[in-house]
Amino acid sequence: MEFVTYEVNDRVGIITINREKALNALNSQVLDELSEAFDSVDLNEIRCLILTGAGEKSFVAGADIGEMSSLSKAEGEAFGKKGNDLFRKIETFPIPVIAAVNGFALGGGCEISMSCDIRICSDNAVFGQPEVGLGITPGFGGTQRLARLVSPGMAKQLIYTARNIKADEAYRIGLVNKVVSAEELMPEAQKMAAGIAANAPIAVRNCKKAINDGLQVDMDKAIVIEEKLFGDCFETEDQKAAMANFLEKDKEKKLKVVPFKNC
Ligand code: CAA
Repeated sequence: MEFVTYEVNDRVGIITINREKALNALNSQVLDELSEAFDSVDLNEIRCLILTGAGEKSFVAGADIGEMSSLSKAEGEAFGKKGNDLFRKIETFPIPVIAAVNGFALGGGCEISMSCDIRICSDNAVFGQPEVGLGITPGFGGTQRLARLVSPGMAKQLIYTARNIKADEAYRIGLVNKVVSAEELMPEAQKMAAGIAANAPIAVRNCKKAINDGLQVDMDKAIVIEEKLFGDCFETEDQKAAMANFLEKDKEKKLKVVPFKNC
């Protein structure tokens, strides 16, 4: 792959968008390669992913404006679908995905970060949906996920005004989970990912699914989704071992870390 790298560190995978000359802007090739990278993750071994951008300046500066500039209506819709299909793949990926936002997260950059489960950013990060200034709407899920993640009123304000916000404001409105210095960004993301990876994998996956699926339906249906996924955890090796450890007051015994396929 030309613009995406994938590395594995213990049970954590790191996917890096590496098109630094264009501030990691998302053209069709980057979107295809990202999709390929997610497809290549070995879900039997990897417990958590980190998504980041190459360089110190930009996470992702949006969809590629050069590529979009000459699209027809039908091509524009197809480009939106390409991005949306990938971002939905990330959002519904079986294991958690942490966005380590190392600078500009504009347009498609803000949108791809919102398709991740958790966002940690460096203090030089800038978020925004500048699309209306370019004569388009946010097209990779921004109108939908920003409204759900912050609030409809705040999402409308940010999208209609096309105003960029700095890391501290993104934190204040709940768009990011944590702000750290640029040097601390990857260590912090890796620490959080390792903490997630140390927990029972079926339980973590089921939590992601319960939260995601439950948010799409009313509470009566949502609690049924939870009950099913809660029930699914029983009889797993991790559930049996972890609860036995507690009952035996054996604090030394760590949660068994078994490959997912053997759980
Ligand atoms: N698409 C294509 N190329 C981009 C890009 C983008 N979104 N963002 C930056 N680049 C390119 C620039 O064209 C430039 O390339 P050259 O060196 O070949 O000229 C290079 O990256 C460096 O960018 P700048 O010289 O502009 O760097 P800067 O520090 O002066 O400014 C910036 C940085 C404020 C992020 C500015 O690049 C910028 O405003 N970028 C566009 C941000 C934007 O509007 N994003 C939304 C895109 S629309 C979208 O994403 C739609 C959607 O929802 C699907």
